[in-house]
Amino acid sequence: MIGRLNHVAIVVPDLEAAAKLYRENMGADVSEAVDMPANGVTTVFVHLPNTNIELLHPLGENSPVANFLERNPAGGIHHVCYEVDDVVVARDRLKALGARVLGDGEPKLGAHGKPTIFLHPKDFFGTLVELEEPSES
Ligand code: CO
Repeated sequence: MIGRLNHVAIVVPDLEAAAKLYRENMGADVSEAVDMPANGVTTVFVHLPNTNIELLHPLGENSPVANFLERNPAGGIHHVCYEVDDVVVARDRLKALGARVLGDGEPKLGAHGKPTIFLHPKDFFGTLVELEEPSES
């Protein structure tokens, strides 16, 4: 069922500084910052040959990553995103096996415009897990 590692997400206190670090010091292919008001985050993608790093910064008043940044003011790894061919099939399978889906349990469009869900970290050994359908690119 589980496919490729799509991205590792890191919440950062300074998105510009983090993008610069990856672009200039690490020599990576780094996207422009994109505001995603519906998701409460601004994102920058660092494209690596085998996966991506998603840099996240809170956007707006009820950002889902604001509390994380308060607890981890220097930043930190927030979630990992695995690809699955069908998010609804994967969700139903994992729910039947006891995993908890965050929010209302319905897929939301993520940073790549693909349906995504988040699974409770307590059901994945302390790791917040995002599932996303693969992009063509
Ligand atoms: Co993500």
